[in-house]
Amino acid sequence: MDYEAVATQYTQGNLLERIFGGLLAVGKDPEHLSVEDLTPVDHFHTLGPSATAGLADAAGLREGEVVLDVGSGLGGPARMLAARYGCLVTGLDLTPEFCTAAGELNRRVGLQDRIVIQEGNALALPFPENSFDVVWTMHVSMNIADKAGLFDQFARVLKPGGRLAFFDLIAGAGDPIFPLPWADEPSINHLVAEDELRTLLSAAGFHVQHWEDLTAEGAAFFAKLTRSPLGPHLLIKDMAPKMDNLRRNLESGRVRAIRSVAGFPG
Ligand SMILES: C[S@@+](CC[C@H](N)C(=O)[O-])C[C@H]1O[C@@H](n2cnc3c(N)ncnc32)[C@H](O)[C@@H]1O
Repeated sequence: MDYEAVATQYTQGNLLERIFGGLLAVGKDPEHLSVEDLTPVDHFHTLGPSATAGLADAAGLREGEVVLDVGSGLGGPARMLAARYGCLVTGLDLTPEFCTAAGELNRRVGLQDRIVIQEGNALALPFPENSFDVVWTMHVSMNIADKAGLFDQFARVLKPGGRLAFFDLIAGAGDPIFPLPWADEPSINHLVAEDELRTLLSAAGFHVQHWEDLTAEGAAFFAKLTRSPLGPHLLIKDMAPKMDNLRRNLESGRVRAIRSVAGFPG
């Protein structure tokens, strides 16, 4: 598995400078930021911040819960979970530029004591067993081929009675149209179909409690997205045509979007 190629997919350079430029262009001061100021750009997934809130509600997140955000990106979901839901969050991500930017943005909104960002690989989580109440992941597994290994890692670090909350893209019918935000070409695209995903979850000991198909909502979201100086196009190279391809894949059912919560009895 070529992790360098994955990190390269998500690295353009000067990420913070581009975000600060976008903030200034919409009248926000990068020296005096709120969590909400960043939401147009820092939730790097279909449906933006509303998907983060929807997953948090589906998972029933409670104040003080200890959450691991796997593939935390620029940190928008982690900041929402800390600020709005009162969680203590560890964010882990493969891409150094996202980790650096996420840490700096956490500091600027005053959440550095509630969120820790760590560089690392989801397939080798650097945490002891029974560490987290919730393992949370949004739009990450499509870059990871070894899903059995991934779910075993989640099960290992979850406390007994914990839960896995994810919002992910899965394979539908037919080959996807590339390039896509997570993969310019097929070699780093690892979508699996619903049946396979459910089988893998259950083999790792998870019981699905919530399963919701948000494919149609996702397609409508990208169709309505208008370009603003502060938006997802700042996150990676050539994002606009990649988001348009994702819309076409969702509309045609080649790719599906699933929100799920699974319990882990331990
Ligand atoms: C589309 S972004 C989603 C970021 C964030 N979850 C969000 O929703 O805003 C995918 C992220 O997954 C990370 N990623 C991909 N493969 C990973 C792996 N094996 N381990 C850790 N992070 C990974 C990438 O670096 C990238 O930041």
